[in-house]
Amino acid sequence: MNSLKGLILSGGKGTRLRPITHTSAKQLVPVANKPVLFYGIEAMAQAGIDDVGIIIAPETGGEIEAAAGDGSRFGVRITYILQHEPLGLAHAVLTAEPFLGRDAFVMYLGDNLLQGGIADLVQAFREHSPDALILLTPVPDPENYGVAELADAPAGEVGRVVRLVEKPRDPATDLALVGVYMFTAPIHDAARAIEPSARGELEITDAIQYLVDDGQRVEPHIVRGWWKDTGRLEDMLEANRLILDNIDARVEGELVDSQIDGRVVVETGARLERTTVRGPAIIGAGSTLADCYIGPYTAVGERCTIRNAEVEHSILLEGAAVCDLDGRMESSLLGRNVSVRRGQRQPRAYRFMVGDNSDISIL
Ligand code: G1P
Repeated sequence: MNSLKGLILSGGKGTRLRPITHTSAKQLVPVANKPVLFYGIEAMAQAGIDDVGIIIAPETGGEIEAAAGDGSRFGVRITYILQHEPLGLAHAVLTAEPFLGRDAFVMYLGDNLLQGGIADLVQAFREHSPDALILLTPVPDPENYGVAELADAPAGEVGRVVRLVEKPRDPATDLALVGVYMFTAPIHDAARAIEPSARGELEITDAIQYLVDDGQRVEPHIVRGWWKDTGRLEDMLEANRLILDNIDARVEGELVDSQIDGRVVVETGARLERTTVRGPAIIGAGSTLADCYIGPYTAVGERCTIRNAEVEHSILLEGAAVCDLDGRMESSLLGRNVSVRRGQRQPRAYRFMVGDNSDISIL
């Protein structure tokens, strides 16, 4: 086999994470204070893939480039590839053809998180040399994904791929296509041969089905650890929970009359006064917390301010502030420099200045 390249898809509009994604790429929303995209790049590096292409969109490409740079920080070399319009995952592959050449490659959707990375899969790919390798996992809502039907197989074995359908109204199985794929050169011909789907996109699912119909060997793998597509708020919070579950405690900031329980990271320059943090949680560099309770599964970004408030199971992006709340804030995602506080003026009433497509829930 020729050298193995990496292709990370980091375009798209991120409509399901608005309003955060009005001003920032969905792949840069942090999980446990690290952009989702970086987990994908690190997975490539860990699997020994050092030549990585990243597909970017005109709207958010600059921001992605500024964040990931030339890749040297991750030990990889990054080439940015502009996809002018979001015309589908198979279209992204065709857009990347000058970069990929005839090399085999791992394709990784930039908003996906896969526990344990991809090293095992890359090894299986190298050992078995299939024409393509796909990852599958059972999900409760298969109609939202590409869905696979497999042939019957003896117990303990995985049957061959019979059919793949993108977001079927009536799914034949609950096996969803995970956003990590391995391909060889014939995928380019397949992507050229298929027609756009009802949503107007060249679907990678259809291109893989084309390979199956063409008699090529498409090897299915069932994912053993967890997998998350972080496209929606609930998924983002759950990904945050799953990653925080595995962090190692580390306190580099300053604690004054404060207590931390369980696995908690307090980054350099953060200052906690009369505050209790119950882990797993992370408090970003330069944040100031006073008279607070921070509950499990909370990621507080850099330079946030939390005062006289309780926050749990939430993600705060850099510069966010939460002050003087009566109740506890939970299951929330606050964008950069967002401020949530109790007002001082009478009459006691809610006062908002909130961007387009925000979502506020008050009891
Ligand atoms: C894409 C693929 C789908 C796959 C999913 C995984 O869906 O088209 O087959 O199951 O990623 O995240 P999209 O995110 O474009 O809706």
